[in-house]
Amino acid sequence: MKKQKAPEDKLTRSAGTKSGQEGDSSDSSSSRRKFLISATAAVGVTGAAIAAWPFIASWRPSARARSIGAPIQIDISKMEPGARITVMWQGKPVWAVRRTLDTLEGLSHEHLRDRLRDPDSKVDSQQPAYAQNALRSIKPEFFIVIAICTHLGCVPLWRPDYPAKRIDDDWMGGYFCPCHKSKFDMAGRVFKAVPAPTNLVIPPHRYLSPDLVEIGFDDLSNS
Ligand code: FES
Repeated sequence: MKKQKAPEDKLTRSAGTKSGQEGDSSDSSSSRRKFLISATAAVGVTGAAIAAWPFIASWRPSARARSIGAPIQIDISKMEPGARITVMWQGKPVWAVRRTLDTLEGLSHEHLRDRLRDPDSKVDSQQPAYAQNALRSIKPEFFIVIAICTHLGCVPLWRPDYPAKRIDDDWMGGYFCPCHKSKFDMAGRVFKAVPAPTNLVIPPHRYLSPDLVEIGFDDLSNS
């Protein structure tokens, strides 16, 4: 019976019978290795780029995000004394309030001032420089404010009515946050002895015309 050759024999023989064959094979293995290394590296870089794409994409603000941050305009031409308009800017409620002459007169009372924590708006972060005055506004009548309590971020109630004994024995109108009872006057100035630490925030704004206010205007040098 003829003896069958083991498969290993073939492999053993082909691996270097003539001189130079081993060198050729080694060269070709080396080239193949190099090719595989470069191909793997290329795939790795592409893979990393694909994996990073969502992050790269997330660095660029979407059109919606850009529009949320964009300035907005409020037409105040139809606002009667005592009226209020609410708009959204950067995801936050902003109120435009037309204060009455009585309200303006009440804001100058000395006994109100004594009850306020920061009557002169000394905390710079709470308003642009052009609203750093007793009325916290560019024009006395029109008050523009972000309607978010500076305690824990609730939207306070607009309570221009007075007297309002349930809020305060001497209530002269203002903004009242019922969750922890913070009180602000009609210029958004916080009362003493309430949880809210600072006055309400006045957003950057300017008058494009007597009837049109723009909120979110970047240049804080407006006067
Ligand atoms: S969030 Fe306004 S008093 Fe607490």
